[in-house]
Parts: sequence; C-alpha cells; structure tokens
Amino acid sequence: FGEIKQPVVMCLLLHSLVLMTFCFHHAATSCSKNCYCTESESGGKTVRCSNLQLTEIPQDIPNDTRRVYLDFNLLTTVPTNAFAGLTQLVELDLSHNELSELEPGAFRGLGSSLQFLDLSSNKLGNLTPDAFEGLRARANLTNNPWHCNCNLQMAMPRVDLEPASLTGVVCHTSEPEKIGVEGLAFLLAPDIDLCVEMKRTTDVAMLVVMFGWFTMVISYLVYYVRANQEDARRHLEYLKSLPSRQGKSEESSTISTVV
Ligand SMILES: *[C@@H]1O[C@H](CO)[C@@H](O)[C@H](O)[C@H]1NC(C)=O
Ligand SMILES: *[C@@H]1O[C@H](CO)[C@@H](O)[C@H](O)[C@H]1NC(C)=O
Repeated sequence: FGEIKQPVVMCLLLHSLVLMTFCFHHAATSCSKNCYCTESESGGKTVRCSNLQLTEIPQDIPNDTRRVYLDFNLLTTVPTNAFAGLTQLVELDLSHNELSELEPGAFRGLGSSLQFLDLSSNKLGNLTPDAFEGLRARANLTNNPWHCNCNLQMAMPRVDLEPASLTGVVCHTSEPEKIGVEGLAFLLAPDIDLCVEMKRTTDVAMLVVMFGWFTMVISYLVYYVRANQEDARRHLEYLKSLPSRQGKSEESSTISTVV
C-alpha cells in the first residue's frame, strides 16, 4: 500500500504548492501586501490597510482602486506623489495616524477623482496649501492640533479643498496667544485677524528705517554746513590778512552770505 500511496501524496502536495503559488501571485498583482481587498459589483475596488502599524504608505496599491483605508496606522508624513497613478480614487482615509506633515504635491494626481479625504485625528499643526494643490475634495480636518497664526490665516484662501472643509480647522494653540482663538473654528471667527501683530511689527520696522534715514540726512546736512562754515572762516581770515579796502568790502559780503 505504502508504495502506491507515496506518489499520490507527492502529487497532491505538488498540486497544492502550485495552487498556493498561483494564489499568492494573484494576490500580489491585484491587492497591496498585507492589505485586504474587496471588489464591489459596480466594479470599484476597495483596499483596506487599517490598523496594520504601517509607517509608510504602501506603493503597491492597484491603480484601479476606488477606496483606500489607511486609518489607525503610524504614518507620520505623506510624501510627494504618494498616491500618483491612482486615477480612480474616490475616497482616501488617513485618519488616526501620526501625520504632522504633508509634503507639497502629496495628493498630486487625485484632483479629478477624489471626493473625500479624511485627515482627522492626526498631528497636523500647519496648513500647507501646496500639499492640497488641485484637490477639491471634501476633507475632514478635525481633531488636529492646529496652530493658528498669521501663516495659517494667509494659507486658508490658497487651499483648493471644498470650502466647508476648513471649518474643521479648530485652533489648538495660537499666535498671538492672548487673542483667545483657542477652541474656535478659525473660519467661523471672521473678526479675528492674526496678522495684525505682524503688520504692527512691520510698521515699527518701517518707522525705525525711516528714522535712520532721516538721522543720516540731518547729520550730513549738519556736517556740510559745519564744513562750509570752516571754509568761510578760513576764507575770512585770509581776507582780513589782506590790507586793501577792496578786501574789506568783500569781507562784509562773505559774512552776509555765511549768515
Ligand atoms: C493600470 O496599470 C496598467 C499597467 O500598468 C495599465 O495597463 C492600465 O491602463 C492602468 N489602469 C488605470 C485605470 O490607470
Ligand atoms: C471627521 O472625523 C471625526 C473624527 O475622526 C468624526 O467624528 C467626524 O464624524 C468626521 N466628520 C465627517 C463630516 O465625516
């Protein structure tokens, strides 16, 4: 019996091995490693990479993916072109990570397709318009430690995102501190101008520079008059040393000019 069974077992093993290789190969080409992929009836592919302790964005997400869930990972940054090639992406969830930075062009290539971007519950403090270039998606920006200062105020009009998204920018800290904007959605506090202090500083700098110039001009004038007086005095003394009457009349005319 043993002699007959052995080749059969071998054959079965080989068969399953071939099947497994085929399966892994298939998985590698149609889904990102470690992630869980599903395909809906309408043909949209969803890639779920939630809660995998990822520190980097996977680069093998299939280009026909419509939804990507990367929430509850350890991502700290979104590099330039991180999702380039995913031209059908509609929804991107990056919530509950450690994101403190979005590089310029982080979402480049998604402009025409992306409709929802979740960046909530991260470590974002500064708003960087270059990161959102061309993106008109609705974004969830809540639950981030936004630092509201003049830079943030000036960045807001330059962000292309759906305008309502910016109501999620709730100030955690602010500069100047005493303005009392902490805990407020910056967009919903239209009376607050965080650039006032900076404008005031610029005005003071301008005044100092102007005063400097003024002082220089005055000093030059004083120096010029003094030097001329010296010249005139020397000239007078020279004239006095001349014995003629003509010299005396010249002397009085010189005095009148000096005076
Ligand atoms: C995805 O990539 C393949 C191979 O590079 C290409 O043939 C296909 O057109 C791409 N599909 C989309 C939707 O970009
Ligand atoms: C934005 O994210 C927060 C926290 O993750 C969530 O509670 C809230 O419902 C989200 N808002 C929208 C409009 O999806």
